[in-house]
Amino acid sequence: FIPPQEKTQGGAILAKDVLGNPIPAGQILANPAGTRALVAGLAGEPTYLTVRDDGTLHPWGIVDNCTHLGCTFPWNEIDQQFQCPCHGSRYSPEGVVLRGPANLPLKLVRVTVEGEAIWLSPWTENDPRTGNNPWWV
Ligand code: FES
Repeated sequence: FIPPQEKTQGGAILAKDVLGNPIPAGQILANPAGTRALVAGLAGEPTYLTVRDDGTLHPWGIVDNCTHLGCTFPWNEIDQQFQCPCHGSRYSPEGVVLRGPANLPLKLVRVTVEGEAIWLSPWTENDPRTGNNPWWV
């Protein structure tokens, strides 16, 4: 995988691993449907990518930063929730709050795949979960 030049228009960057190397799409898509893969995203923010049933990546990247006080959290495969260990907030697979104290949905970034390149770019359109302006813009 020879990574393409990083884009600057629209602020897109390549999804990277913990060592800062771009991650080929095939590496993540080799996982079963439903997998949440954690990558280093925009501004280094850890971001979950989701493998869909059709073997593609979901266009919503979910930022691993609890909207209560900013803890990182794991994906709970059994409960099908993101569960914050700090104060117990829980989020749906789409990042919608199921239980507080968090009261805002998880931040989204846009995920696009071109060949083996996984691009992450800022989500500036309406939040598809609420229909409103995204709270993070
Ligand atoms: Fe996640 Fe408080 S930081 S619940």
